[in-house]
Amino acid sequence: MKNIAVIGSGTMGNGIAHVFALYGYKVALIDVAEEALTKGLSTIEKNLKRQVEKGTITEDTKLQALTNITTYTQVKSGVQHAELVIEAATENSDLKLKIFKELDDCAASGAILATNTSSISITKIASVTNRPDKVIGMHFMNPVPIMKLVEVIRGYNTSDDTTTLVMDLSRKLEKIPVEVNDYPGFVANRILMPMINEAIYSLYEGVAGVEEIDTVMKLGMAHPMGPLQLADFIGLDVCLSILRVLHDGFGNPKYAPCPLLMNMVQAGHKGVKSGSGFYQYTAGTKALKVASQFS
Ligand SMILES: NC(=O)c1ccc[n+]([C@@H]2O[C@H](COP(=O)([O-])OP(=O)(O)OC[C@H]3O[C@@H](n4cnc5c(N)ncnc54)[C@H](O)[C@@H]3O)[C@@H](O)[C@H]2O)c1
Repeated sequence: MKNIAVIGSGTMGNGIAHVFALYGYKVALIDVAEEALTKGLSTIEKNLKRQVEKGTITEDTKLQALTNITTYTQVKSGVQHAELVIEAATENSDLKLKIFKELDDCAASGAILATNTSSISITKIASVTNRPDKVIGMHFMNPVPIMKLVEVIRGYNTSDDTTTLVMDLSRKLEKIPVEVNDYPGFVANRILMPMINEAIYSLYEGVAGVEEIDTVMKLGMAHPMGPLQLADFIGLDVCLSILRVLHDGFGNPKYAPCPLLMNMVQAGHKGVKSGSGFYQYTAGTKALKVASQFS
């Protein structure tokens, strides 16, 4: 396998393109927004430069990786040579179904169609294609060039061949793949999101403040980052939408999102990306400051 197409040039898409290009694959990076492609390429270049400065890759490797990437604004032209397509577009069920219908029409009949979705059912995505045996979840973690895990999710009809190929390919990228089955939230978010939700409930019910909750989890459980800071980093809107998938998918009230989380998202306080969540984020400073609503 030599030719990969990545759909979406946002946070995850540019990270996935970075890693494949670095390991010698030809990457077609596709986004509907020209600005997203420009921004994605500049992020890849910046992150490769950082690797050169750290001495983990050479300047030549960086330049070769950059020449391995070609950008496209049309899915049809971008996927024509792809043996594997990894979709990393916005987390929206209708959008992903539309993209997979188009991919099924445009990509070679033998191509594997993977999605980086955090929570949407692989089986549902596969159901709009004529190749459900070749549809699979390839859930990279953020930031992709650094995080080792790939959660490989088998849909109901995903074949053994497709799973083996994607597991082997992940190892070629020096990642560690873990195979899981397709149930809401898979494993990563089924366990992480209830923990984040419980941290928000603890704040909402006045058990402790933002810093206190995060400090307990960092120092007491050896987590590198507290759950409220992690929620800000993931995006509170993303956390809310994953909790809704768990709540709808299992029909169990234990996954009901905390009303405080719903209010914050409604008010536009989405974490790092909006400048405010449980903490306040100011460009140019790394100091953590609790948001005024909670201080
Ligand atoms: N951000 C994370 O920490 C994280 C972690 C793991 C998985 N994910 C998953 O990865 C996927 C992408 O998330 P992200 O954080 O990179 O999102 P993002 O918003 O940063 O990027 C999404 C990109 O998709 C593009 N896009 C939208 N519709 C498109 C289309 N029809 N064709 C091509 N491109 C299109 C947008 O222009 C945008 O550039 C989601 O499914 C998300 O759940 C995100």
